[in-house]
Amino acid sequence: VLKMAELDLQGKTVLIREDLNVPVKDGAVTSAVRINSALPTIKLALEKGAKVLVMSHLGRPVEGEYDDEFSLAPVATYLAGKLPVPVRLEKDYLNGVEAKASEVVVLENVRFNVGEKKNTDELAKQYAALCDVFVMDAFGTAHRAQGSTHGVAKFAPVACAGPLLSAELEALGKALDNPARPLVAVVGGSKVSTKLTVLESLSKICDQLIVGGGISNTFVAARGYNVGKSLYEKDLIPQAQKLMADLDIPEVTDVRVGTEFSETAVATIKPVDQVLDNEEIMDLGPDSAQALADILKDAKTILWNGPCGVFEFDNFSKGTEVVAQAIADSDAFSVAGGGDTLAAIDKYGLSDKISYISTGGGAFLEFVEGKVLPAVEILEQRAKS
Ligand code: 3PG
Repeated sequence: VLKMAELDLQGKTVLIREDLNVPVKDGAVTSAVRINSALPTIKLALEKGAKVLVMSHLGRPVEGEYDDEFSLAPVATYLAGKLPVPVRLEKDYLNGVEAKASEVVVLENVRFNVGEKKNTDELAKQYAALCDVFVMDAFGTAHRAQGSTHGVAKFAPVACAGPLLSAELEALGKALDNPARPLVAVVGGSKVSTKLTVLESLSKICDQLIVGGGISNTFVAARGYNVGKSLYEKDLIPQAQKLMADLDIPEVTDVRVGTEFSETAVATIKPVDQVLDNEEIMDLGPDSAQALADILKDAKTILWNGPCGVFEFDNFSKGTEVVAQAIADSDAFSVAGGGDTLAAIDKYGLSDKISYISTGGGAFLEFVEGKVLPAVEILEQRAKS
């Protein structure tokens, strides 16, 4: 695909699609990983002399209505503190927007626009008419065929990939296509159902698959143990059993349980076969966590998505911490992605020790599954024609 870094952007109006879908609380951004990852692209466009328009979605608002709760205003404020030029939020832009060199115009949440999610040609042409060059840089939204990720790329005079998108594809490609082995995948999070396809895909390519969090509880139940009132999915026990038969999935031997799902719940460590009906598994026990750390120590490539326990609660965060630390300490090429995963990396201060931190959540999982990302595919088509 065509790359932004290779283009002459002097005096051109450049429309950059970023994924600035970040958590916001009380009008302020609470995790800026995605915005920080987008900054080098925006700065590069400015350095190349472009007039820069930036667009993104935030959350899932009702289409066709402005809603304060989903405004990009907090994002624009954050950007203003990080960029060397003034940043302006523009609400009304579909019929044209005046941009100056040496400023950045943030276009209000694209999901307020009718036709964004349906990817109508009408809206896509309006976006395309705003620019000379469209830069797709939103890896986190590349799995969505929407107006601002896909449609606009069909009609823009020039459509190219931004540096962040290129870096993401390269890092994930390195981990998945012909990886240094052993390749160990760590898939945590609450539900098997939301990650079944990724678990199945990974089971075909990785040497060991580590499951954590609520997902692990379903595997514990599949081994015939009582999981008490733990979060788990009974219906998915057959799938868990099949995965265990196909692949080496390290077995949990001890767990941390509590009697209520709360920040103040007391953690009790016990063997996995002694969980009582009134208890719920909320974290790995120390032996299990150490066993996983030992496996990770010898890995040459690591893919990580999802925490290994309820790491938001300090009493149940040790398992995730031990695993995260092991990933950080290993010499492996490590790639981590997903909102909770990034929050965990942040909590333990390990950002600098993971080889690549992806801004993708759903997009990361779809890429790992081997699915085509529509917003990348359209850039490939444009490059060919
Ligand atoms: C994400 O957070 O995964 C992306 O920004 C995509 O958001 P969406 O799932 O609402 O399309």
